[in-house]
Amino acid sequence: MINIAIDGPAGAGKSSVAKAAAKQLGYIYVDTGALYRAIGVNALRHGFKTDDAEKIIPMLDNTKVELIYTDGIQRVILNGEDVSEEIRLPEASMAASNVSAIPEVRAFLLNLQRDIAKKNNVIMDGRDIGTVILPDAQYKFFLTASPEVRADRRYKELKEKGSDVDYNALLEEIIQRDYNDSHRKTAPLKQAEDAIFIDTSNLSFDDSVEAVVSKIR
Ligand code: DC
Repeated sequence: MINIAIDGPAGAGKSSVAKAAAKQLGYIYVDTGALYRAIGVNALRHGFKTDDAEKIIPMLDNTKVELIYTDGIQRVILNGEDVSEEIRLPEASMAASNVSAIPEVRAFLLNLQRDIAKKNNVIMDGRDIGTVILPDAQYKFFLTASPEVRADRRYKELKEKGSDVDYNALLEEIIQRDYNDSHRKTAPLKQAEDAIFIDTSNLSFDDSVEAVVSKIR
């Protein structure tokens, strides 16, 4: 199977680039952030503080997370319920970042990710795909952009959907999440040594996709 890893910080365009590249290549696009978001949402539903490991670790015994694919679209199932929309709520982002710092949570989600990659050609995006989950991936990419560009993209995206958003609040959240994700002890966000670095700050969307697809082809 062909396994492609795409890592990078929040809002660097990983998911849209990976999705488009997977479509062109006929691979499955696996969004691993959705798994941490599902755990985060489960913790919020229980009313737990999302960085409270003492509450969240036992919660895992009664948590089942599955990914299903229909026509290439990923759905996330939490204890039998489709939570694909709920995990996109703004509060799910920081909840995901918080629970993802708990090593037991990462261990809980590890085999699920590897199993999908064992059975399918995949482009998998996340924070530790090239470093931990798929260290033998045929190609690894590290996609990034400046925090300002990432906040601006998110701002425009949300504005288009009709949300009332504050640019500075988005920028602050991105900086906070970058810090969280790259400073945790277990599997922090970092570029794998053999990853190809792509800064999308000054690249169009199509050029970013092309940079990834041409390499894989
Ligand atoms: O990619 P995303 O924004 O949906 O991810 C949400 C959070 O989940 C992110 O802030 C950190 C965590 N995450 C992770 O720790 N490892 C991954 N492979 C993917 C996401």
